[in-house]
Amino acid sequence: MLENVSKTVFHLLAKSDLLRRAASHYGMRRPSSFARRFIAGETVEEAVAAARELESQGLLQTLDYLGESVASLDEADAATRDYLRVIDAVKQAGIIRNLSLKLTQLGLDVDRATAVDNLRRILEHASDFFIRIDMESSAYTQVTLDIFEILWDQGYRNIGVVLQADLFRTEADEERISRLGGRVRLVKGAYRESKAVAYQKKADVDDRYGVLIRRLLERGHYPAIATHDIRMIDLARSHAEALGRNRDAFEFQMLYGIRRDLQQMLVRQGYRVRVYVPFGRQWFPYFMRRLGERPANLTFVLRSLAADRG
Ligand code: FDA
Repeated sequence: MLENVSKTVFHLLAKSDLLRRAASHYGMRRPSSFARRFIAGETVEEAVAAARELESQGLLQTLDYLGESVASLDEADAATRDYLRVIDAVKQAGIIRNLSLKLTQLGLDVDRATAVDNLRRILEHASDFFIRIDMESSAYTQVTLDIFEILWDQGYRNIGVVLQADLFRTEADEERISRLGGRVRLVKGAYRESKAVAYQKKADVDDRYGVLIRRLLERGHYPAIATHDIRMIDLARSHAEALGRNRDAFEFQMLYGIRRDLQQMLVRQGYRVRVYVPFGRQWFPYFMRRLGERPANLTFVLRSLAADRG
């Protein structure tokens, strides 16, 4: 229950303009500033440098140019053009071609057809990339999966979706996407959801996550097990082994700056581990979700602020 309270509190704080402005001022300005723990930087050059560093350690990466909930078609178009520039930078840098994005960044809240067109522009420009559509709150689950299916039916195969174990509907969604042949990233769910649509207790979410890991390893298509929870990772490893799955038949995914020790350990054991590398100026909502998952993170924010002023 405590997790839900903290998700709610940080969700509300994320809407505060004052806090966003203060955080933007202090969060990234020095190498030791607090947001740098989770965000690779504000520029594509910083993201490419972080990606290179990860790749040199045997890790895979997916770049996420941060942004969400844009309120006008102009902003959606600007975000799409930014993504096209990121794609060019990735090609030029010669790093792994894998991106994650959000549909509300491409205009989903303003006009669904435009968001689909914007995603298509990105897919066309990045035909040899893999593009993962992040999953936002449950208000967007159906429309996100519908858009994925439309593009899949149109022949785009370089896309995948994210499913959240906390939602009641996810088992049915997993079946539908796996039957289609789509690639799923499985997460626990980062958004505060109501009891009408989602499990509220952490134990129940973990239980469903375990069930979904088994299903994806049995019938999924190169699933991504995205968690830092060692119990879930153990479960995935032992189930994959019992099924005779090779270690390259699936991958683990973790967030930039979280459990680097675990990332390295899995690489040493021969597993594929992809790190989600967020970057860009719009980092505040992403950062607040990371605090909501683990309020203890506030201590390093406060320590970094004290050092900054000291
Ligand atoms: P859990 O919350 O049980 O944490 C397990 C352990 O991980 C903790 O004990 C702690 O050690 C560490 N940990 C977890 N979160 C931490 C944090 N913020 N700071 C420091 N340590 C932390 N969600 C979503 O709704 N839509 C999406 O598209 C995505 N995409 C996504 C991609 C990738 C690659 C990952 C890893 C996660 C997501 N998520 C997501 C977020 C996800 O839903 C979930 O909120 C977080 O991964 C935290 O849950 P865990 O599975 O790590 O378990």
